[in-house]
Amino acid sequence: MVSWKDGQEKKLRLSLFFADHYRNIADKYDYFYKEAHQGYIPILMKCLDVKPEHVVADIGSGTGAIAKDLFELSGLHNPIWCVDPSVEMQEVARQKKGVYPVVKTAEEFFSNPQISDRFDRVLTNVSAHHFVNPDAPGAVYKGILRSLRPGGIFVQVNVLKHSPPLFKSANKLMSQFYEREREISSLLLREVGLNANVSQQEVFFSWGVTKSKLYECYRCRFFSFFQHLSDDQIEEGITELENEHYQNVKEDDLINYESTVLVTRVEKVA
Ligand SMILES: C[S@@+](CC[C@H](N)C(=O)[O-])C[C@H]1O[C@@H](n2cnc3c(N)ncnc32)[C@H](O)[C@@H]1O
Repeated sequence: MVSWKDGQEKKLRLSLFFADHYRNIADKYDYFYKEAHQGYIPILMKCLDVKPEHVVADIGSGTGAIAKDLFELSGLHNPIWCVDPSVEMQEVARQKKGVYPVVKTAEEFFSNPQISDRFDRVLTNVSAHHFVNPDAPGAVYKGILRSLRPGGIFVQVNVLKHSPPLFKSANKLMSQFYEREREISSLLLREVGLNANVSQQEVFFSWGVTKSKLYECYRCRFFSFFQHLSDDQIEEGITELENEHYQNVKEDDLINYESTVLVTRVEKVA
């Protein structure tokens, strides 16, 4: 039987493992995710309905790319609180306009009792799968909901599916990732009390990357779950894709990528 202590140690090892991942890809992250970010922004703009006077926090904000766009498009008066534990991702974020970096995990940030009734809008875009122990009593979701002002809105985006064919060894890992994304959205629903209105919807968007960029993304393990694959497995996977799907696609041709995300919106009753 796995003891509580073993479970905690495993989670700690996993979070250090992912910290390494973000350290390694920080300087290329915006390049890898440029096209995907363009898909997320309209969804977030619509669900968050940010007004210029709002105080906004982005949790697991990465390089601040989403925050920068939201800041500019919403004409915000104040920078967005960008909470992320990765020093390297925050180094990239701090160079952007409209970003106020806070180098902390979500758990550290929201365990501060002073972070109550502070924000009009809180978002987490494809980061909640990194939350540690989100189902523990008094855990991160309680803190997030407490941090909202009455009438405030929290939006969480989880990926349900990316559609380009993946190679076999990656398919299994990504299925685990999608499962975790669904699980984490259920945990959020469980934490929402009576003083909130909740809605969920699946949203679909498409984007395109050239074949050479797609392979580069795979080789650099742009999905954090690819960290579990060796270089050899990735090379074999690319050969598999080339033989089975992309033999006739030129390096600069676009490969269409389709993503389905689950958007959970929680509005704290005023
Ligand atoms: C997939 S990236 C998403 C970044 C950004 N939201 C975006 O859409 O580009 C996940 C981010 O979550 C951060 N992260 C990892 N553990 C975290 C935690 N416990 N609390 C908050 N953020 C965390 C990572 O450092 C990383 O920057």
